[in-house]
Amino acid sequence: MEIMSDSQKIEQVLLSRLSKSEIKEWIKTYSAPYKELMAYYRCAIMEIETKFRVLSEELSMQYDRNPIETVKTRLKSPEAILDKLTRRSLPITVKSIEENINDVAGIRVIGTFLSDIYMLSNALLKQDDISLIKKKDYISEPKENGYRSLHLIIETPIFLHNSKKYMKVEVQFRTISMDWWASAEHKIRYKKDIVVPDDIDRELFECARLASELDMRMERIQKAAMQRPKPI
Ligand code: GTP
Ligand code: MG
Repeated sequence: MEIMSDSQKIEQVLLSRLSKSEIKEWIKTYSAPYKELMAYYRCAIMEIETKFRVLSEELSMQYDRNPIETVKTRLKSPEAILDKLTRRSLPITVKSIEENINDVAGIRVIGTFLSDIYMLSNALLKQDDISLIKKKDYISEPKENGYRSLHLIIETPIFLHNSKKYMKVEVQFRTISMDWWASAEHKIRYKKDIVVPDDIDRELFECARLASELDMRMERIQKAAMQRPKPI
């Protein structure tokens, strides 16, 4: 199987939108700056991932259990970047990507219990090199379809050999059950150009409600268990 490089992928998507001469001009102008910007986003992902690794080390010592189940990272694909710029009628330039797209660098942190989500997000936001750009709490206010997750857009510095650059990163915090629902729902529906019948919508919503109930129940069980005295 032939693996396409980033610039080949961009070229392929651009071909469907621009004329050949316009594409040539675009690649000449933006290819190197695009690669450079993506490298900076990869560095920002590494910075934030490391912060969670550090928290994971520290918290597993402190709590006897690690509240971080998994950390997943992803760099938005050139196709998805172009799609988003086109959907929002934004200029297709490297500057526009940096200014307008907040989720080029993405990190998903899966915590065990509901309270872990807020503890972990606060632990990140307290760090003095992190600034919060935007917060969407779909846990306290789930989306209409039942989607739950805590989304932060943060800015983090990356340290280059002779400069410091601030990069935006989207951090999504979920419990295992939020993540399970979201990935199943994504496969069934999200961003697909299909109309999902109302009954499937309702079923999915009902599953989200049950998942949320289970999260709250687990939270109560964990709190109750913590209050029990340890056997001597
Ligand atoms: P995007 O343009 O999709 O990035 O959305 P947005 O800029 O309005 O941001 P929002 O914080 O609402 O959603 C960002 C991300 O959360 C998405 O890219 C998905 O990863 C996830 N997400 C949001 N809504 C849903 C949903 O209904 N179902 C699933 N499975 N994931 C969702
Ligand atoms: Mg997104």
